[in-house]
Amino acid sequence: MTARAMLEVAALAKTYESRDGATPAIADVSFTVAPGELVCLVGPSGCGKTTLLKCLAGLLAPSAGEVLLDGEAVRRPPPNMGFVPQDYSASMLPWLKVDSNVTFPLRHKGVAARRRAELAEETLRVVGLSEFARHYPWQLSGGMQQRVAIARALAYEPEILLMDEPFASVDAQTRGDLEDLLLDVWATYGVTTVFVTHDIDESVYLADRVIVLSRRPSTVQRTVPVDLPRPRDQITTKQLAEFARLRTDVMRTIKRAGGDESDLSPSGPHRVGASRERTEDRQ
Ligand SMILES: Nc1ncnc2c1ncn2[C@@H]1O[C@H](COP(=O)(O)OP(=O)(O)O)[C@@H](O)[C@H]1O
Ligand SMILES: [Mg+2]
Repeated sequence: MTARAMLEVAALAKTYESRDGATPAIADVSFTVAPGELVCLVGPSGCGKTTLLKCLAGLLAPSAGEVLLDGEAVRRPPPNMGFVPQDYSASMLPWLKVDSNVTFPLRHKGVAARRRAELAEETLRVVGLSEFARHYPWQLSGGMQQRVAIARALAYEPEILLMDEPFASVDAQTRGDLEDLLLDVWATYGVTTVFVTHDIDESVYLADRVIVLSRRPSTVQRTVPVDLPRPRDQITTKQLAEFARLRTDVMRTIKRAGGDESDLSPSGPHRVGASRERTEDRQ
């Protein structure tokens, strides 16, 4: 492990309590993320990935254990953290144009109007949407809206970016483009990234490290370091023998853990239950 952890998750557990009983979602999860690292969390649908991410983001209090960001316990959404939810359409404010959607959270951060405009311009350029700044989100395709969500997270100038299956509900071609866009952005801004997915290929393609979660209630099954060369490329990277070895490795780990493979797509388009959940709390 690299010298200093930016994010530290220590013996985290979360059980949802309700009148009908308790639902343990996370049993015991510990891991660290170094500054600038891109870590993917992969696990079957319903294993507790969104729950985990919400705990990391300070949106949900863990039942046990803790989350430390730069050595400090996370108890509310940290100001240096960006969040990209799975459901892009629910995260767009339909009455605001694209640029205002991007800058909306910055008002709460107290960023001056002039700086907000600069950030909207810059981040929309980075995601290739300069021409659409004055459109409404509903005039854009799903993949474009997801890019607006990325621009919005970047405009927040986060040091750490959390993404919850952000590309799960776009078509395979768009998904590949968005993965590459994310890698560009990550390389350009050097932003520490925690990316949740249930797609094994996606996790290996993006990550420095893949953390494989068990079925619910989740534990860390295994951590798989990914030393594939960067920059990565949808065609050449995925042709590498090492890529095949890594994806098999991750798949085996999940199988050994008793994971249901129907809930995990080895590749893009055929996936189950991807758009079932909502990210209610933020944006
Ligand atoms: N607000 C909630 N109240 C009660 N149970 C919940 C709540 N949110 C999620 N769960 C349950 O916790 C488990 C993990 O859910 P989730 O974190 O959304 O998994 P994933 O993101 O991996 O699909 C599921 O069994 C789900 O039904
Ligand atoms: Mg989820």
